[in-house]
Amino acid sequence: MVTASKALDRVLVLEMVRVTEAAAIAASKLVGRGDEKAADAAAVEAMRAAFNELEFDGTVVIGEGERDEAPMLYIGEKVGKGTGPKIDIALDPLEGTTLTAKAFPNALAVLAIAEEGGLLNAPDVYMEKLAIGPGYEKGLVSLTRTPTENVKALAAAKGVQPDEIIACVLDRPRHEALIQELRTLGCGVVLIPDGDVAGVIACTNPDTTIDIYFGSGGAPEGVLAAAALACVGGQFQGKLLFRNDDERGRAAKWGVTDLDKIYELEDLVKGDAIFAATGVTDGSLLEGVKRRKGCMTTESIVMRASSGTVRWVKGEHKL
Ligand code: FBP
Repeated sequence: MVTASKALDRVLVLEMVRVTEAAAIAASKLVGRGDEKAADAAAVEAMRAAFNELEFDGTVVIGEGERDEAPMLYIGEKVGKGTGPKIDIALDPLEGTTLTAKAFPNALAVLAIAEEGGLLNAPDVYMEKLAIGPGYEKGLVSLTRTPTENVKALAAAKGVQPDEIIACVLDRPRHEALIQELRTLGCGVVLIPDGDVAGVIACTNPDTTIDIYFGSGGAPEGVLAAAALACVGGQFQGKLLFRNDDERGRAAKWGVTDLDKIYELEDLVKGDAIFAATGVTDGSLLEGVKRRKGCMTTESIVMRASSGTVRWVKGEHKL
C-alpha cells in the first residue's frame, strides 16, 4: 500500500487538472490543422503558464527534451512559484501531436507528479512495454517471456481461450513480427496510430475490451503510463531500448547503468503520485475539448496512487 505524501497536498489534485485543461484547450485550437509543431507549442506554452501560477517548487524530470533542444518545459526546468513542496513532474503537454494534427482520436494533455526522486528520469529512447489491467496475480506476464507465453498465461487467468484475448499495439513496421505472432494465436489486435499512454491505460478499462498492451514506444510515455497504473491498478513492465551508441551514451548521462534492466512499475514510479490527463480529441479514455456557443468543455481524469481515488472532471470554460 502506497502511503500518502505530505508534499502532494490534496489541493494539488485539482490544480493538476487545471494544468492539463489549459494545455488541452490550447492544443484543441489546432486539431485537424495539419500542424504538429504549432499544436505542441500551444500546449507547451499553456501548460507552463498554468504551472507557474501554482504555489509549489516543481522540477520537470520528464519533459519536452533537453535544455538545448526545448525552449520550455525542458528537463530540469523549474516551474511553479518556487514556494511550497518540492515536486518532480513528468509531462507531455500534447501526447499525440500527429493525432491532433490529423484530428484522430486519443490525443491527451498529460502529466504525473511525485515527491522529489519519485519518477524515473527516463532518457528519450524507446521502451519495450507490457501492461495488463488490475486483478491478476503479480508476475502473471513478463518481458522475459514471449508474447505467446504471456497471452496464454493471461487467457488462462481470465478463463478464456487465447483467441479471445485482445491486444493493443502501436501500428509500426517494427511491430510486424509481434502482430503476426498475436494473429497466429487468433488474438484481436487493436492497432493504434499513435498515443501509447492511452493505449496502456486502455488495459485497465474493461469497456475498451483491451486485455494487454505490447510493443515499444517512447520511454517518457512509459513512465507517464506507469504513473496512471500506479493509481488505478494493473501491471506494467518496461525495458529501455538503445538503438545506437549515442543513445547508450545518453543512458549513462541519465544514470542508467544496467542497459538490460526490466523496470517494474515500482522502479518507474515510487511512493505517492498524482496522474492527470485532459482529452484533446475524443478517445477511449476521455472526451476531447468541444467548442460550444460561449464556452469550451473539457473532460479530465485525475487519480492518486496513495488513495486509489479516480476522479473524472467535466469542465465548462467561458470564452
Ligand atoms: P508525440 O505526441 O510526441 O508525437 O508521440 C506520440 C507517440 O505515438 C507516443 O504515444 C509513443 O510513445 C511514440 O509516439 C512512439 O514513437 P514512434 O512514433 O517513433 O513509434
